[in-house]
Amino acid sequence: MDVYKDQSQSYEKRCADLLQRMTLEEKVGQMMQLPANFDNNMDKLESMNIGSYLHCTGDMMRELQTRAEKTRLGIPLIFGIDAIHGHCFDNRATVFPTQLGVSCSWNRDLIREMGAVTAREVRANGIHWTFSPVLCVGRDARWGRVDETFGEDPWLIGEMAAEMVEGYQGKEGFANWEKILACGKHYAAYGEADGGRDAYEADVSRRNMLTYFLPPFEKIVKDGCATLMAGYQAINGEPCSASRWLLRDQAKESWDLDGFIVTDWDNIGSLHTKQKVAEDLKEAAYIAVTAGNDMIMTTPSFYKHTIELVKEGRLDESMINDSVRRILMAKFRLGLFDEYRHTSPEREAAALGREDHWEAAAQASRESLVLLKNEGILPLKPGAVKTITLVGANADDVVAQLGDWSFGSMQAGASDDSFHRDVTVTLLAGLKERAEREGITVNFVKGADPLDENLDECDQAAAAAREADLTVACVGDTLKLHGEFHDRANLDLTGKQQKLLEAVKAAGTPLCVVLLASKPLTVPWIKENADALVCAFNPGAKAGEGIAEVLFGDLNPMGKLTISFPHHAGQIPVHYNRFSGWHSMNDPAMPGEERYIDMPEEPLFVFGEGMGFSPFSYADLKVSKSVLQQGEDLEVSVSVKNEGDYDGWEIVQLYINDQFSSLTTPVKELRGFKRVYIRSGETVTVDLTLPFEELSLINADLQRVVEPGRFDIMVGASSRDEDLLKTVIRVE
Ligand code: GLC
Repeated sequence: MDVYKDQSQSYEKRCADLLQRMTLEEKVGQMMQLPANFDNNMDKLESMNIGSYLHCTGDMMRELQTRAEKTRLGIPLIFGIDAIHGHCFDNRATVFPTQLGVSCSWNRDLIREMGAVTAREVRANGIHWTFSPVLCVGRDARWGRVDETFGEDPWLIGEMAAEMVEGYQGKEGFANWEKILACGKHYAAYGEADGGRDAYEADVSRRNMLTYFLPPFEKIVKDGCATLMAGYQAINGEPCSASRWLLRDQAKESWDLDGFIVTDWDNIGSLHTKQKVAEDLKEAAYIAVTAGNDMIMTTPSFYKHTIELVKEGRLDESMINDSVRRILMAKFRLGLFDEYRHTSPEREAAALGREDHWEAAAQASRESLVLLKNEGILPLKPGAVKTITLVGANADDVVAQLGDWSFGSMQAGASDDSFHRDVTVTLLAGLKERAEREGITVNFVKGADPLDENLDECDQAAAAAREADLTVACVGDTLKLHGEFHDRANLDLTGKQQKLLEAVKAAGTPLCVVLLASKPLTVPWIKENADALVCAFNPGAKAGEGIAEVLFGDLNPMGKLTISFPHHAGQIPVHYNRFSGWHSMNDPAMPGEERYIDMPEEPLFVFGEGMGFSPFSYADLKVSKSVLQQGEDLEVSVSVKNEGDYDGWEIVQLYINDQFSSLTTPVKELRGFKRVYIRSGETVTVDLTLPFEELSLINADLQRVVEPGRFDIMVGASSRDEDLLKTVIRVE
């Protein structure tokens, strides 16, 4: 038996044996990834020795995998898909909140479970790899893809991404029907493009790359994340897929990436056609291999050009061998050469949409909800309400609720709009079901639609509001107002939504707003005028239940924002970890006459804020040492009391501030958090460990060091100064 087929041999030996049997054409073919669903790419499997397909499910996938088995060496295909908040491109699968939504749970276990459920369903489907998690830093809400991020804080992004990778990959390998390869994307600083312009130039210094944008990737690579995806954009003029520093020096050499790097969609073609750093596509192929891209997504010309470049001696075949070895090793480790090559309809049916999966998704929906305002109207008092008027198109819009990379997305190619409609509980459905249990009537008047400038039923909505004891207004955005290629300069509510809010407010009935959106929108009127506000970032298929549970008090909301809300797009960037040097009069005699003269300095809502039905109070902040030697971790404790009538969860946050440093550092940075459940009236002591390394900065020599000096240690309920207890330690 050929060694590469011999299951008694190590994967390394089998891979080496296979590699030396392969022709140059077969090797370069392994580096190719094509979309199965257009350009007759299915026909190219044999002629171009294709190694991977994406956006390929069901019969297309089964056909291709079977044909691959019949090729000369029978190398299995690896299939990748964007299963980024559940396996949303299969109508039978479980749909979770988007990353931004679930990040507001601050729940590590939940995020890991979301990954595990998605992996089980994707793998059962015969697909091996998800292009997830997204590690982009969501600091500019004008960017269309903020919904895909874990918010604005790089440290928290790293923590959450690590959980999601573990959910996808597990710790015991992925030669099984439970696990898939993860893919950290978009490597790196893709969300940092100027002006929130998707895939546009990002001007990021090396020091800021090492400070903010690389650490989350470094964390997951060192945790064993199997693949990275190179970003579209150029950083300081160098496209990610042309950056040897990013791909080879950092990921492969410094962090010892054990897997491979795939480009984003036609990154290599874009080197020539968009970014103009390659005279022609052949030059682009040369740059691609030299920089260290291993798998080339949708640049068909790469195949013949790379073969030519090797034959002409311009590319050393050893670089091809290294990429192909990385790809083949991933296929061996997935068990694709062995019993895990073909799934079965029975396995799919058993895994997709499993009851416990939907329970996990429903819990993720609940924990993603953030209560941002409540002037005592929630939870609804029994008997206080007989009629509820519900307004706003988003109260009954599955596409708006599920968000991007689900059936409304262009990649889904949904045959009709039935995808996930039957399993989705909209706010209208959830509220009606919950209210009618208590004989409460719910009247729904659409009133306004984020996509329809002409829809104006504001008068009808106001009339219905006048008849009600409570008005619930569900406003926000929807697909086509966000996503790839869909950036915004203006983040105000679209359509007649603002007019609708003012009309129902004028009716005088208590007003609870549900902001159902992909990302922060500029909603200062809501903060000012709503009696309650629930933020639901694309909260998943079961969110209608969760929101109704919050309104009726069955659920004590526990979410906290992982991203700041600007008052106005002109305030961006508005993230919490900003610097202290903003020029101001600093003259107490002239308060307010400083910084923005036409806008508050503070965000509308801040990173880390969110409330429940019980207020929590903090006291007794203690640290294990007031002086730390180099390398010593710090133990921090604080007592937290539930001052209200409702048992509930509190997300305790730990921030640091390096008081004086050789280079500027932010006024505060999140470096720890813990979720604690506290019963009404009880006090608990919360213990947090601050690893010494978390006090570090990147110095002028681009070295990560902890500089001696004083550090503020702050613990509390949000990133607001007034929510934080503070003490000072000194590092020797
Ligand atoms: C898209 C996205 C990337 C996705 C890939 C495959 O353009 O930028 O996030 O994984 O192409 O669909």
